[in-house]
Amino acid sequence: MTAYIYFILNDSKVCSHQPLGLTVLEYLRSHQRLRGTKEGCKEGGCGACTVLLGELQGDRLIYKSVLSCLLAFGELSGKHLVTIEGLNQKQLSPIQQALVDYGATQCGFCTPGIVMSLTGYLLAPEEVGIKTALQNNLCRCTGYGAIKRASLALVQSLEQSQVQSIETLIAQGILPEYFQDIPHRLKQLTQSLSESENGTVSPEFIIAGGTDLYVQKGDTLAESTVRLLNQSSQIKGIEIEGDSIHIGALTTFAELANHPTIIKLIPHIQEYIQRIASSSIRHRATVGGNIITASPIGDVTVLLLALNADLILQEGDNVRQIPLREFFQGYKNIDKTPKEILTEIVISLPPSNTKFNWEKVSKRQYLDCAAVNSACAISCEADTIVAISISMGGVAPIPLFLKQTSNYFIGKQITPETIDGAFPILQAEISPISDIHGSANYKRLLARQLLIAHFSKLFPEFINFKDFYETN
Ligand code: FES
Ligand code: FES
Repeated sequence: MTAYIYFILNDSKVCSHQPLGLTVLEYLRSHQRLRGTKEGCKEGGCGACTVLLGELQGDRLIYKSVLSCLLAFGELSGKHLVTIEGLNQKQLSPIQQALVDYGATQCGFCTPGIVMSLTGYLLAPEEVGIKTALQNNLCRCTGYGAIKRASLALVQSLEQSQVQSIETLIAQGILPEYFQDIPHRLKQLTQSLSESENGTVSPEFIIAGGTDLYVQKGDTLAESTVRLLNQSSQIKGIEIEGDSIHIGALTTFAELANHPTIIKLIPHIQEYIQRIASSSIRHRATVGGNIITASPIGDVTVLLLALNADLILQEGDNVRQIPLREFFQGYKNIDKTPKEILTEIVISLPPSNTKFNWEKVSKRQYLDCAAVNSACAISCEADTIVAISISMGGVAPIPLFLKQTSNYFIGKQITPETIDGAFPILQAEISPISDIHGSANYKRLLARQLLIAHFSKLFPEFINFKDFYETN
């Protein structure tokens, strides 16, 4: 499926006719001959293909670093795409100069991606710091010490910890002068694809953020009919209505983790999200996509299961609401018709004394899939459990709400003996298999450990991991 797409590529207005599902990486390298954007893993894991995507939100132009190997060409409609060539000026920018000064580049294959990620950070600094902006950038020859030193020196020299205006970044030599006119030029563009152009008639693939689909089917999406939800739906953003939180299905992981209501509900969400995805993935991956993918180890899905979320599904005028806990019917088998779209995730606000914990064990601490993950929402009166909801991934064909294990805890005191009594119920409720993430026995062990971890983290006054082992 092809359509004429209008966008700005670096300093040039482009009208291009390409398959909507073509990757932007392929488009840049093969069609535009812009080879500074490197092709590494093609599955979101190396950052060599990082570009910036600028989008008007009201009168504000927001740039995000994204991975072009996981980005559909059709997503460029009405936006500003910036590659490493679009940042070059007569002299090295302060970012490029810092990398040179600190010897932070050798073969240079990763360097364009690093420059793009650092530029993205300076356009929108995240609270967690500049090192987070480089989470997705692998370097196989320089070593990360020099890259970190260059990045920290850069930030100190610019004294930059707040979002800076584009004017300031131009004055600092970070951005070329043409950025000044981009907001005005974007307003002149056709902003999005029409319904008929965007594969609404039985598309083979419906794409949200694309961060999983492009890993699985990246080579076939260019030849397929696709519908890009971001181009035709407004189902993003988080709103509070009475006692409910409504999360648009296209809300990204980054938007979820940065929302004040979500931070209040899940105080450590910023910490968790670091282990769920790298910063470039977080800018694209959507909450709805994580659910629809139906991975048994979906990190955000496991988190939402513990919060007893509901899903709103829509097909034309037909709208229905179902519990997330009933949505998964078997491995990758979900309660959704081909034409239904997940539009919203609804969470009823739990009692104010509810505590929440999320755990993940993976081979690598960051940028890795879970062997087992788990979430727990619990409220107590003194040391007695009055409500509890535990979910777990990687231990069944579906992301699992541990109904029996959760029920067991109701009305019990938080003691090592109580937890000990839950183990047989937990082990009967799960059915892990051996796969690349670990053996079935290992996952059974992890399930047990994560259950203890929930209680020892949330109630250190009652449960100590060390003491617990002394009693078993
Ligand atoms: Fe590795 Fe895109 S090529 S993240
Ligand atoms: Fe060679 Fe980073 S400088 S991969």
